[in-house]
Amino acid sequence: MDKLIIEGGNPLHGEIRVSGAKNAALPILLACILPEGPVNLSRVPRLRDIHTTLKLLDILGCETSFEGNEVKSTVCNIQTEAPYDLVKTMRASVLCLGPLLALKGEAKVALPGGCAIGARPVDLHLTAFEKMGATFELDSGYIYGHCKKLKGANIHFDFPTVGGTENVLMAASIAEGETIIENAAREPEVVDLAEFLIACGARITGHGTSIIRVEGVSSLKGCDYTVMPDRIEAGTYMVAAALTDGELEILDCPFQELDAVVYKLREMGVWINEDNDRVIVRRQGELTGVDITTQPFPGFPTDMQAQLMTLMCLANGAGTIEEKIFENRFMHVQELVRMGANIKLKGRTAMIRGVDKLTGAPVMASDLRASASLVVAALAAEGETEVQRIYHLDRGYEQLEKKFSAVGAKIRREKE
Ligand code: EPZ
Repeated sequence: MDKLIIEGGNPLHGEIRVSGAKNAALPILLACILPEGPVNLSRVPRLRDIHTTLKLLDILGCETSFEGNEVKSTVCNIQTEAPYDLVKTMRASVLCLGPLLALKGEAKVALPGGCAIGARPVDLHLTAFEKMGATFELDSGYIYGHCKKLKGANIHFDFPTVGGTENVLMAASIAEGETIIENAAREPEVVDLAEFLIACGARITGHGTSIIRVEGVSSLKGCDYTVMPDRIEAGTYMVAAALTDGELEILDCPFQELDAVVYKLREMGVWINEDNDRVIVRRQGELTGVDITTQPFPGFPTDMQAQLMTLMCLANGAGTIEEKIFENRFMHVQELVRMGANIKLKGRTAMIRGVDKLTGAPVMASDLRASASLVVAALAAEGETEVQRIYHLDRGYEQLEKKFSAVGAKIRREKE
């Protein structure tokens, strides 16, 4: 397992480019099961989860290639089983359920286990597909789904589930008749998937709002598509600029999709300005603590919670973070406390009191965004930090140490 060694205290200065969005690329890649004919995807980030998804596509009968940030995929002959040893490493594999049911009328998908941040069940996905005419059995850790022909239906999600909305969107694209998804997730990555499906010939309206309408078509065709830039990666760079008291020019920054994050950073005293094709970020004097509650989009994103907590560790005064999306997404707290942070947990709320400084220490990554928060903490801490188990980080950040080194960070990767 690799680790990162980081010498803190160096303000970051210069240009940093955002890669393609992991959480848009994953569903779009699995949607490549649907169209007849070749798909060419651009701005696909080179991440562990992307390689895992391409392996799954190969197992499901697609021919894929991945050169640079370009993916080519062509459906050859679809298999309908997603094996456990793949699904257990990446929950998003469950997004192949919708396309397989819609295309082949059957699917055998390993039930995704929970992960560090929560149980993350898929009950809302299954209930929606049952409304569309599928039946499921659970046996020895696998979901067996069957249907004659998926039919459009009125779906109402109890919770605006991102994965559930994406799974139903893909299936509904070639189901018989109209599907209406109410209380749909509005995340930009859901919109990107819908735009990809539309480029393949799907008839979708309302994506980005909480009511999405899909008119099923008989088949989809291959297309060329460019994945949106990663808003969480961009938000992580904004925090890094403020934390290290530097100034970063963020290129390919999806600024509109970061409203809630930009609002809170400005409230803390971070200076952020959009200037043509770049976003410039720097600290403006002392930072102050704020109160944050994570919400479905357009609320404050849970995937930025850990990074904002790190920034609040060095702000004046106190702030609170209430995590309302996942039940166990404070794994970074104890590691930050080891670096000198003053954070108290009460249920799903963290109370952060700013301290003068963080000090370097050996810390352990537990999940993707927790690892990002530890890396940015290390960039601002005094002395050396060793961040262990950074395979978590490699799931969602393309060449992070290279990008940070290029703007002045003292950071290197070592074999553990
Ligand atoms: C997606 O996960 C993202 N992953 C997550 O990003 C992100 O944190 C999350 O959306 C929320 O924005 C990908 O897109 C690959 P959900 P997903 O379905 O689809 C509960 C990262 O760091 N729920 O909106 O799993 C669930 O337990 C990752 O990049 C059910 O109860 O999110 C959770 O508490 C982490 N039943 C909440 O809803 C269901 O059937 C949000 O889940 C589905 C979800």
